[in-house]
Formats: sequence, structure tokens, C-alpha cells
Amino acid sequence: MEQRKGRRLILFPLPFQGHINPMLELANILHLKGFSITIIHTNFNSLNPSSHPHFTFHSIPDGLSESEASTKDIIFLVSVLNAKCVEPFRECLASLLSDVSEEPVACLISDAIFHFAQSVADSLKVPRVVLRTGGASSFTVFAAFPLLREKGYIPIQDSRLEEPVAEFPHLKVKDLPVLKGCDSEEYYQLADGMSNGTKSSRGLIFNTFEDLEEQALGKIRQEFPIPIFPIGPFHNCFPAASSSLPLSTEDKSCISWLNSQAPKSVVYVSYGSIAAIKEAQFLEIAWGLANSKRPFLWVIRPDSIHGGSQWLELLPNEFLENLNGRGHIVKWSPQKEVLSHAAIGIFWTHSGWNSTLESICEGVPMICMPCFNDQLVNARYVSNVWKVGLQLESGAERGDIERTIRKLMVEKEGEEIRARSLKLMEKANLCFKQDGSSYQSLDGLVKHILSLESFVFRTQ
Ligand code: UDX
Repeated sequence: MEQRKGRRLILFPLPFQGHINPMLELANILHLKGFSITIIHTNFNSLNPSSHPHFTFHSIPDGLSESEASTKDIIFLVSVLNAKCVEPFRECLASLLSDVSEEPVACLISDAIFHFAQSVADSLKVPRVVLRTGGASSFTVFAAFPLLREKGYIPIQDSRLEEPVAEFPHLKVKDLPVLKGCDSEEYYQLADGMSNGTKSSRGLIFNTFEDLEEQALGKIRQEFPIPIFPIGPFHNCFPAASSSLPLSTEDKSCISWLNSQAPKSVVYVSYGSIAAIKEAQFLEIAWGLANSKRPFLWVIRPDSIHGGSQWLELLPNEFLENLNGRGHIVKWSPQKEVLSHAAIGIFWTHSGWNSTLESICEGVPMICMPCFNDQLVNARYVSNVWKVGLQLESGAERGDIERTIRKLMVEKEGEEIRARSLKLMEKANLCFKQDGSSYQSLDGLVKHILSLESFVFRTQ
């Protein structure tokens, strides 16, 4: 822990697991660097202060109706939050800024998707630094949405799915980060809000590292007139205690099960905290796993199958009876601990950015089955750019699944992918050594924060 800086940072995460985790990791990193941390959070998916006694928490009413809070339409929900949180957030921030009993506030750090926070910060004259929890490569694509729309790539037409995107040489039209069937104005507005709000901010923090996304970071440096701080992978810098939402209790039984498995033998399957799949796909996954004859650890969230709240009820008895201890199923795992376990051989993921980074940091090759949004870009980079995994198109059948698992586990291509995964893991670990890129960038961020002048009028 470094000497206290006498400055407070106010953090405002987007209330979803994949955004809360990195924001809390960042909070821990900056706390270690000597800053005091105050976190403003919504009532929706509210945080548990007792898990982080060294931070101060303030909850704001988000005004969500019951139906809004329970919707599966994430874009709608995020848009509503961006509209309804403005006033409660302004009130809370204003009162924190004028509180003379606490250390002065150096800046606000808020999730890029909470773009309304920029105008609130401007009106209260507090500098805002943005945290983008996703990767830099996908961020460049979101920032190019106006151009991609102008050129007719989006909304996506089925007839153009396989066409390369000239502006993004690694991507085809089908990899553009959209939500299938939801190419709505609302979605584009969110992307524009994220990009424009970030441009008006005082800095942009990424949970990534130079060696991984050098090109994208270079592009962002050219296009965004603000300092950029790639200081990830956060969890490598601060091996944080669990930051799971209270809704998702980690089932530790999987660790003792993993202890009984051979090294690098297990296929770990998890699709993050939001993605949901169709019933037919769910069954193909089950049979693909069964037919692969490999041990597997499968996270099935109760809400992860479209159209119902079933959990294992959908799985045929025949499947469950024939497992013989070869498969272990949980509702939520301690994922970072799982990925670092010697028994894990492959991570079959939806390619959320956190999962992707966590896998890279452990050198675990991936099978990517992206569902929507940035996951499509992440998966393409994993399979075609970094070449540390293979991509399964959604709708994959049991035969494809079985073949892909075998390819990664036993064939030459899999061996090469494993070797590259280990090399990339080394790079991810080196960036935090003294003078490594993330180490230096974090130093730069601390200096930058201390140089920001908050013009807040403090009443006494
Ligand atoms: C969402 C988006 O879907 C993703 O595309 C975006 O990059 C971030 O926001 P999510 O789908 O939850 O995130 O995926 P991901 O980014 O991978 O984050 C999931 C987090 O939950 C990871 O930190 C992972 O370790 C954790 N997790 C997941 C668990 O701890 N246990 C589990 O069983 C599953």
C-alpha cells in the first residue's frame, strides 16, 4: 500500500457483473496507490458494502419499475438507466463534492456506457475519467458506428455476413458488435453516447495491455483527444476477492471436483452473466460435451436458457445418468480460481471481455461461441488475430462441438494454439513487472489524476 494521497475518487459502475467486477478491481488498484474510494451504485443490482469495508458506498434510487428491472432487453435497460439516473446521480455527486468532512475529490471515474455522467460532471465542474470495461479493439468498432452505418455495413444484411469490412481488416460483417434483431436507434445512440461522452472526458482507462491490443490503442490515441491508460489485466494486478453480485453465489464444490481430475483434461464451459441460449442449442452443447468423452465443468445459470426458468430439467435423464462423475454442473463458479486450476484444459466461453482476459492470463486455450455485442469482435481476435482459440459459430451442432474439442485437446493445431496461449500469458504477466507497459501506464494514470484540478466549490 502506498502513502495516502489525501484525495478521494468517486467511482460509478454500470450495474452488471461484467462491468462491476473490473470497476471494483480498478477501485482496489487505485486504493493501493493511496486514493480513498467512494462508490456510487444504483439500487438495481446493488453492491454489498460489507465485502469492501475499505470503500465508502452510496446507493442511488434508479427509478426502475418492476418490469424494467426484470427485462431481458439489456439495451432498453441500459438506455432507461442512462435517462432515469441523471437526477439522483447529480444529487448524490453534488452532495459528495461539497462534503468538507472528507478528503477533496480528484475526479469521477465512471463506466463508458453511463455516458450521461459526462454532462453531470461538467455541470458540477468535476473532471470525469472513463473506464471502458471491454477491449480496445471492440471499442474502435463502436466508435466507428456512424461510418459503418454511412457505408451500409450496419444494420447488418444477411446477404453480406461473409463480406470483409474494409475499415477493420480482421473483421467480417458478421463480426460487427450488434445485437441480432436489435439494430435499433436506441443501440446506436448508446454507442454514440459512449464514444462522444468519452471524447469529452479527461482520460480513458482500459482493462487491456499494450502487447495485446497495440493497434487498436494506437487508433484510439489518434482519434480521441484525451490520454489513454491501458492498465490491465486488472485482476492480474490486484488478485481481488470475489466481487460477485449477491445474486450469484459461487459454488466452490467445483474446486474439489477439479482436484480429482487429471492435469489439463477438463473443458470448462461458461457463458458469463448475461448471455442466454436457445433450448435446442443447450441440448447440442450437452450432447457435444457428452460425446467428446472429456471431463467437463459446466456453468448453467438458471436464466441462461431462453424462454424459461428451467435449470437441469431440460437435460434428458439419459444424459445425467451417464455422466458418472465425468461432468460437474454448477449455477455459478469462482471463475478465476477455476481457470487457474491445473485440471483445466480448455475454456469454452461466450467471449465476454473479462472471461477472455481471465483465460489469456492463465494461458488456457478457448473455444469461442459469441452471442452478441463486443463478444463477436473478441471472439474473432481470439481465433484469427491472437490465435489462442477456435471459434464455433452459434447454432453449432454436437458433431462440430465434439470435433472442436478434440482439435484443441489432441490435434497438432490444438498444440500450436496451446503454445501461443502460453506465450500470450507470459506477455500478460510481464506487463505488470516494473517498467512493463501496464505498470508504467498505471503510474501515468496516478500522476494524471493528481494533476486534474477539481473546480468544485466547497462551502466551508
Ligand atoms: C458483459 C458482456 O456480455 C461482455 O460482452 C462485456 O465484455 C462485459 O459485460 P458478461 O457477459 O458477464 O459481461 O461476461 P464477462 O465479461 O466475461 O464477465 C463475466 C464475469 O463474471 C467474469 O469476471 C467472470 O470471472 C465472472 N464469472 C462468470 C464468475 O465469476 N463465475 C461464473 O460462473 C461466470
